[in-house]
Amino acid sequence: MHSIKRIADDLVWVGANDRRLAMFEGVYSVPGGVSYNSYLLLDEKTVLFDTVDKAVQQRFLENVDEALGGRDLDYLVVQHVEPDHSVVIRELASRHPGVKVVCSAKALAMIRQFYDFEIGSYAYTVEENDTLDAGRHKLRFIMAPMVHWPEVMVTYDSADKTLFSADAFGSFGALNGAIFADEVDFDKDYMDEARRYYANIVGKYGNQVQALLGKAASFPIETICPLHGYVWRQNIGDFLSKYESWSSYSPEEHGVMIAYASVYGNTENAAEILSSMLRDKGVKTQMFDVSVAPASEIVSAAFRWSHLVFASTTYNAGIFVTMEALISDLAAHNIQNRTVAIIENGSWAATSGSLIRGRLSKCRNINILDETVSLRSGLKRAQLEEIGAMADALIATFPDSAGVRKGGAASLPAPGMIDNDAMFKLSYGLFVLTVRDGEKDNGCIINTVTQISHDPLRVSIAVNKANLTHDMLLKTRAFNVSVLTESAPFRIFQQFGFHSGKDTDKFAGSGYSERAANGIRYVPEHVSGMISAKVVESFDSGSHTLFVADVTQAFAISNEKSVTYQYYFDHIKPKPQPPKADKKGFVCKICGYVHEGDELPDDFICPLCKHCAKDFEPL
Ligand code: FEO
Repeated sequence: MHSIKRIADDLVWVGANDRRLAMFEGVYSVPGGVSYNSYLLLDEKTVLFDTVDKAVQQRFLENVDEALGGRDLDYLVVQHVEPDHSVVIRELASRHPGVKVVCSAKALAMIRQFYDFEIGSYAYTVEENDTLDAGRHKLRFIMAPMVHWPEVMVTYDSADKTLFSADAFGSFGALNGAIFADEVDFDKDYMDEARRYYANIVGKYGNQVQALLGKAASFPIETICPLHGYVWRQNIGDFLSKYESWSSYSPEEHGVMIAYASVYGNTENAAEILSSMLRDKGVKTQMFDVSVAPASEIVSAAFRWSHLVFASTTYNAGIFVTMEALISDLAAHNIQNRTVAIIENGSWAATSGSLIRGRLSKCRNINILDETVSLRSGLKRAQLEEIGAMADALIATFPDSAGVRKGGAASLPAPGMIDNDAMFKLSYGLFVLTVRDGEKDNGCIINTVTQISHDPLRVSIAVNKANLTHDMLLKTRAFNVSVLTESAPFRIFQQFGFHSGKDTDKFAGSGYSERAANGIRYVPEHVSGMISAKVVESFDSGSHTLFVADVTQAFAISNEKSVTYQYYFDHIKPKPQPPKADKKGFVCKICGYVHEGDELPDDFICPLCKHCAKDFEPL
């Protein structure tokens, strides 16, 4: 029986989930399963984006039939030929003999390599920026070589500002009945899997992902439809900034990943003590026993944390086997821009430390600390100082903004000291405060609304005296508070918070016309509740006035989570993009390979796709 999900009126998810797969691509464990996404666009023409893995072929075909509702399939867009997305092409072609298979020339060659059927009469090859008119939807094809394979392209639908992103923005984990990332607690339940997917599947190709992000920055995106995992329609900027960090190999968070290989527990003991010392100074740590933890989880953590510690016993005069595999894996995934410390162990000839150092020193911009610890079988009391020195050396490289305690007891705060950071630790919500004076409606964003009693039902708000809303409230003594939710887009904060009601009508262009019983406007969308109140007392408090008010009307509007100040900063406010490294070089237009340098020799051949110098353009 079919199981489809509607993404828009004319766009349907027709993919399927696999929760029995043990190892994705034969390498990556997927305890939460995996989804194979395929999307059917129902316009004047019907357009299917990619197919699925053979394990879920039957459900997929039922889904496509149901969503087509008896219509024929006009186009099958093959964005990626990896068989988990292309194996059903032949079956679809036999069911819809008139279908055109839209793909890059490289994809066509790969389809011929993988499958023994004649694709020629179905093929419709496209190049960069070619378009396909499906009716209301105009589709533009954008080449994304090496995001994950060389034939990959993505598709942009300008009508609904949707990016069909192939492997980009995907995640491990089967869908759970939901289809949108904002329907689940993505940060808590899926972000680790999204990072593990990125780091392991496309982590090696950071330059190529950067090239795609650069192209994507030139058009507005409201929905992202990847080949694995949830569809994105909210907080897209947040997820894009994760991709910016991962693809530029910039640490996502300050903290230390400690990976250890220990045969009898002595190397592990040193790693535990180091982790404990770091934690005592406020450093976040994450530990892995490399003989037990899946390598894909450790590679993923290495993309997350700023600092990496490798602790390994010596084995057969080399690095312990599982650690050796991990170091090779990290180098193969292009790990760079990290600070590293090394602990080695060896009962008669400790060599693992220098061997790890040698391997990692070939990676780009890896700062390997001089403070190494070399154990002879087990850690002795006298060596605790060496572990302490390593902890101090790691901590010394954290920026002040990382919140790490660099000093010891001597740096405890002095009596009477006021650290403004402590004030930022207070929790707040965010609200639109609205008032009315005659024909003038106005409003502003505030973060201090508190219920102070239930009998009488009374609230307090604090309003900055610099706001026109403040002056109007002092005069009129009545207001509404709209409680914003996590879905509130940045534009609401811009609209009510970033300019003055003295020069603008804050409601202009908002489309909001609702008024509460007191005649004052409120915000009807992206809010969880509305409270009207009448001021009974006000207190001058320097920069602000504190108003105490009786509630005159209150109603809930939605069950969405109310937004906190912290959530706003973490997820809604656009983050300043890190300045791009001042890189000079040339990028291959075919595969995205970047050759750094001022000049490109005329006889240069791309080491990835083997195209010549004329297929490169300056960065
Ligand atoms: Fe599931 Fe590279 O694909």
